[in-house]
Amino acid sequence: MPQLTSLALRDAAVLWHPYTQMQTAPLPIPIVRGEGSWLIAEDGTRYLDAISSWWVNLHGHSHPAIAERVSEQLRTLEHVLFAGFTHPTAVELAEQLLALLPANQARVFYSDNGSTAVEVALKMVLQYFHNQDQPARRTFLCFQNSYHGDTFGAMAVSARGAFTEPFWPLLFDVQFLDVPVPGHEAATLAQLDELLRRSDVAGFIFEPLVLGTAGMVMYEPEVLSEMLRRCHQAGVLCISDEVMTGFGRTGPLFASELLTEQPDIMCFSKGLTGGTMAMGLTTCAAPVYEAFLSHDKMRALFHGHSYTANPVACAAALASLELTRADECTHQRQRIEAAHAAFRREIEGQPGIRAVRHRGTILAVEYDPGEGTSYFSRLRDAFYQLALDHRVVLRPLGNVVYLLPPYCTTDEELGLLYDVLRRMRHLVLDFTPAPNLPEILHD
Ligand SMILES: Cc1ncc(COP(=O)(O)O)c(C=O)c1O
Repeated sequence: MPQLTSLALRDAAVLWHPYTQMQTAPLPIPIVRGEGSWLIAEDGTRYLDAISSWWVNLHGHSHPAIAERVSEQLRTLEHVLFAGFTHPTAVELAEQLLALLPANQARVFYSDNGSTAVEVALKMVLQYFHNQDQPARRTFLCFQNSYHGDTFGAMAVSARGAFTEPFWPLLFDVQFLDVPVPGHEAATLAQLDELLRRSDVAGFIFEPLVLGTAGMVMYEPEVLSEMLRRCHQAGVLCISDEVMTGFGRTGPLFASELLTEQPDIMCFSKGLTGGTMAMGLTTCAAPVYEAFLSHDKMRALFHGHSYTANPVACAAALASLELTRADECTHQRQRIEAAHAAFRREIEGQPGIRAVRHRGTILAVEYDPGEGTSYFSRLRDAFYQLALDHRVVLRPLGNVVYLLPPYCTTDEELGLLYDVLRRMRHLVLDFTPAPNLPEILHD
């Protein structure tokens, strides 16, 4: 047997990666260090992380202020169970977050990641009605093409797409609404009115303003506020899944700040710890929490994880929140947003470009491969490779290529990213689909 020296070869012998067809995927790129917006490979190659490592990183990799706080916490208290016990960083983080969130949010429930934050939210809604002797209310409304995670409840309220097909028979039924993209608002509101006539609707879960995995599909706060208003009139609880949009991604600290009607429940993860480690949390308004208060122990929320409110993760979150709230971070986000807007003006309407969208630090370019659009998947692979060839990490969503960079990304680094997007336009113009090749799906 050859000696497995490179990290990638050792990985290939023992590991199984997410969203990856292990038989055909190329070897993974071994990253040994992170610095600002850059990932540094075993061989010294530097890659610009244009998608913040799956949308988690806010202030750059291996940030010294977060590292300092985390290592201090590790030496003080690494973990303690969170039923019957508490600790300072969990309390401090909850206090700070509630002061920043919409005023109706009253309680924080910790968990482990975005999917578990969503599971907790769904269970809060179902048990809210159960505890009030209305168990028939158990239908969720959600957007077509939405994505809320990979656990079973989260999959159930997400799109019925290729990734979940093996599990469809086991996913509970939900009712899908069209996303109220500009021009489609009235149609979605009419769909919502129709569904709200039913007596079994319990909750409406949504990605506020930007549906990430769907292809960075964007819609406006006014129509979302109106949807929430109508849900509330019908006694339906609203869950805002801010797992991707939270902590400044859409401009303000939270997308919900742009709404005039507030959600009852909110989900967070990803940027919560600045991209340092896994943690999720679900917050709720007082009436939701109060529906669980009783002399009957069985009305409690029976959900928890071994690492609930891990002190080290809470410390990372506190350090990241301090950085996010600083003026410097606001300026960084405004600078990125302005640069995105200027680039959008440059390429919008050019041949090969179908649409360009941006909100906050998120920019999405929808390329137009012309006829034969079912060959997106191979175009996606070509985009991915082109980016890597230019030492940029991107994960195109079919024909949509998006940037979601760490806030510390400089103007010069943004310039490199826009240059790759320009090259992709030329690639699209030269692209000829090979019709006989089977399609390979990717996220
Ligand atoms: C809106 C949204 N909700 C939930 C999730 C699931 O988060 P996690 O991957 O941490 O389970 C994601 C992940 O991309 C997401 O974008």
